[in-house]
Amino acid sequence: MTLETDVLVIGSGAAGLTFALEASRNLRVLLVTKNEIRESNTRYAQGGIAAVLHLQDDYRQHIADTLTAGAGICDEEAVKVLVQEAPARIRDLIRWGVEFDRDPEKGLRFAREGGHSRSRILHVGDLTGKAIEEAMVQRVLKSPAIEIHEREMLVDLVVRDGHCYGALLLGPEGILKPVFSRATFLATGGAGQLFSRTTNPDIATGDGVAVCHRAGAELQGLEFFQFHPTAFARHGAPAFLISEALRGEGARLLDPRGIPFMENYHSMGDLAPRDIVSRAIYDVMFRHEADHVFLDISHRSRAELERRFPFIHQSCAAHGIEIDREPIPVSPAAHYTCGGVKTDIDGRTSISGLYASGEVAQTGVHGGNRLASNSLLESVVFAYRAAVHTDRLIHFLFKGREKGFRQLLDRGIPWNREEGVPPDAQEIGDLRQRLRDLMWRHAGVIRTDQGLHEGIGKLAPLEARVQRLLQSCSWSISLLELRNLIILGGLVLEAALAQPHSVGCHFSQDRPPLVKPPPGPV
Ligand code: FAD
Ligand code: SIN
Repeated sequence: MTLETDVLVIGSGAAGLTFALEASRNLRVLLVTKNEIRESNTRYAQGGIAAVLHLQDDYRQHIADTLTAGAGICDEEAVKVLVQEAPARIRDLIRWGVEFDRDPEKGLRFAREGGHSRSRILHVGDLTGKAIEEAMVQRVLKSPAIEIHEREMLVDLVVRDGHCYGALLLGPEGILKPVFSRATFLATGGAGQLFSRTTNPDIATGDGVAVCHRAGAELQGLEFFQFHPTAFARHGAPAFLISEALRGEGARLLDPRGIPFMENYHSMGDLAPRDIVSRAIYDVMFRHEADHVFLDISHRSRAELERRFPFIHQSCAAHGIEIDREPIPVSPAAHYTCGGVKTDIDGRTSISGLYASGEVAQTGVHGGNRLASNSLLESVVFAYRAAVHTDRLIHFLFKGREKGFRQLLDRGIPWNREEGVPPDAQEIGDLRQRLRDLMWRHAGVIRTDQGLHEGIGKLAPLEARVQRLLQSCSWSISLLELRNLIILGGLVLEAALAQPHSVGCHFSQDRPPLVKPPPGPV
């Protein structure tokens, strides 16, 4: 069975939903997502979304903070677009029903996070992503122009002569089906699942980047994987995020003796950019032979914390930590994929007819390291722009290609794998865990040339085993995710080796810094 649509949207996080809503004004949209529609990194976002909306803030300051966090290698034009178009996109979110926290007298409440020189983060407690996702999903569900396919996975793109004609999907029944689309929008998010310690949910397997690699699209900046400094750190518990917004509200990082340490590492102290805080925590853990440090917000009352950080308060309590009374054990975890599929400021990739935005894309706004709360913003700003561009140019882009695509489909495309025994779930799980351990060890917060080379060596047998499974078994979402993760693992290791400098969140003991390092022993 062949499906047809004007635009095929892959992914239902902030980027996919924004694109679908905007494009569906004039075009038919098929929205495909590999889990249920609400599952995404977006849903777990805590701290908020950055925008210049306070009278005492200004665009130049947000631009400067973004460039500084990006370690001097951001694309300045893209950063300007991000910051200047933020207020319009926030107004859309409010119009769609997102109720950002407000002060009864002063209006919107602005929080502060690492690397920001002003309080400019809009939030809904510590459940900002859930509120944004829900408002957009409600709107998408009501749109007659958007058809939704849940539990369907993008397997590969159909690319011929540099143009994308659609994609091959794996349906819930295990059947492969092609979709014919005049334009295709990738919003598959990030790849935190590459690492054994991550804040990301299971769906974050870097599919879009791996698919684009197979299709020959240009990729960029994959060595820049951001490690969030403060994920929950207790043996046997998940590494859920402890938002940077806690530090914005005065929480302090403490060493194992209970002594604050960030002032020794950076002039912004606990609110320094993330890469710097993560490495400082590593340094402290190393010196104290500890596997975590502490984050202390116990100066705030229980009532305040329950109101401002309901998720964190409750999740810590579920693991025996009462955050109004004791410090939270934390350590870094893989959090955000700064690199990805290279796009311009209208979301265009190097393949015509293929657009990408959000965490899967590399627009250049994050450079070497993303500024806190700029990611939800990037997703909505650039997905909106991509939808406007698609709407304007779709017929021009597709002119003369319809016949060619039909011939392509009639002739058949050699990609099939529906026969064979289902792969062994236990084996896939074990291989995935081996990969994640390998990446954490060899491509984590602190890298070395030797470690990266060793990582590449250890990847080879995993790759060979997956190739055999792909040939002998029927395909499943977990098997295809594993293939994508392994491809991406290799790309990250290669990109890290090819980067001549330590810059932003890529830090190698064997490479000199690109920019002057901050004062102190980092
Ligand atoms: P996602 O929201 O991850 O959506 C990707 C979608 O694609 C999902 O629906 C997924 O199921 C689908 N998908 C993936 N692969 C396939 C495939 N092969 N086929 C079909 N569907 C597929 N950023 C901020 O700016 N502020 C914050 O406060 C913040 N807090 C965060 C807290 C946590 C715990 C995490 C994990 C991230 C946080 N981030 C934050 C980052 C931010 O949430 C993400 O970068 C952003 O939401 C990405 O949006 P997206 O639409 O690009 O991808
Ligand atoms: C956080 O709340 O600390 C996460 C914010 C982000 O990833 O931008």
